[in-house]
Amino acid sequence: MHAIAIAQPGGPEVLAWREVPDPEPAPGEVVVDVVAAGVNRADLLQRQGFYEPPPGASPYPGLECSGVISEVGEGVEGYKVGDEVCALLSGGAYAERVAVPWQQLMPVPEGVSLQDAAALPEVACTVWSNVFMLARLRRGETLLVHGGASGIGTMAIQLAKAFGSRVAVTAGSEEKLARCRELGADEGVNYRTDDFSQKIRADVILDIIGAKYLAGNIKALNTGGRLVVIGLQGGTRGELDVGALLRKRASVHGTTLRARPVDEKGVIVRGVVDNVWPLVSAGAIRPVIHSRIPLADAARAHEVLESGEHIGKILLVR
Ligand SMILES: NC(=O)c1ccc[n+]([C@@H]2O[C@H](COP(=O)([O-])OP(=O)(O)OC[C@H]3O[C@@H](n4cnc5c(N)ncnc54)[C@H](OP(=O)(O)O)[C@@H]3O)[C@@H](O)[C@H]2O)c1
Repeated sequence: MHAIAIAQPGGPEVLAWREVPDPEPAPGEVVVDVVAAGVNRADLLQRQGFYEPPPGASPYPGLECSGVISEVGEGVEGYKVGDEVCALLSGGAYAERVAVPWQQLMPVPEGVSLQDAAALPEVACTVWSNVFMLARLRRGETLLVHGGASGIGTMAIQLAKAFGSRVAVTAGSEEKLARCRELGADEGVNYRTDDFSQKIRADVILDIIGAKYLAGNIKALNTGGRLVVIGLQGGTRGELDVGALLRKRASVHGTTLRARPVDEKGVIVRGVVDNVWPLVSAGAIRPVIHSRIPLADAARAHEVLESGEHIGKILLVR
């Protein structure tokens, strides 16, 4: 098969379309012939040499895909050759074929094309596991989503609105804020011109910035609030006012999805299929796709993501 290999750490130009060995399904795995792969910010870090795949994962980038099952290993439950699926991966989506533990497979939601389904697994699993399983966002509470126009943000807005919450967002332009409002956001702050912590109060914050926003996030939390940090675009070391945390009876969490064991990913995936897919099938949540770029041209997709011009997801297609 062919895959996008990372020749050495560096810019988008190090991504090379190469002939590589085909994956073999280990017990409990299937092989998926990839139709499309979602591009995630984590892929940029892996390309730059800052985010090694976890042990046992494919060396090729790509944390999600859609496609058709072409081989089934021993002990796989509920899937067969020919099934159309999408999948949460630990790596390897930037390839013609990828081996996947069956617990990380999902059916394609009704009403979504096989290609578009590649835009859903990573954002749906990240938002479901952090905002709902961990932070337990409730109906009527306010969720603040930093980077509302990101892949993650566009899913978080739609899902929180579908579950009856208020949603506030930050974004870096008026155009992006307008798109967030179209997706359902009630309130938006342009972080380039305003300080969100002066304007927004929230019960749950989904944060992709880390250190730079830590103080502001604590300030913006309501009593009993839950801050979940999932990205570190603003650095890893900040100062935490523990007194404020105590007074607000608030909590701070940090998580990653990629390194979790298969069984934990399986629990999240089942939660998504049971709770998120029906909303997708009903049209309450749609994949937000900025552009589609041929898989062999992954370098261009990385340039677009790095430019920050996109709203929602970029797909690599075959
Ligand atoms: N921990 C996990 O398990 C996990 C899983 C998935 C994703 N993530 C993280 O989630 C983040 C989003 O991922 P993605 O793939 O959706 O990336 P993406 O589409 O490239 O989004 C990045 C976003 O960051 C926003 N941003 C940059 N500086 C900002 C600031 N100062 N304030 C507010 N927003 C700012 C950008 O908004 P503007 O363009 O408006 O500036 C952009 O929308 C990444 O940091 C990624 O690592 C974590």
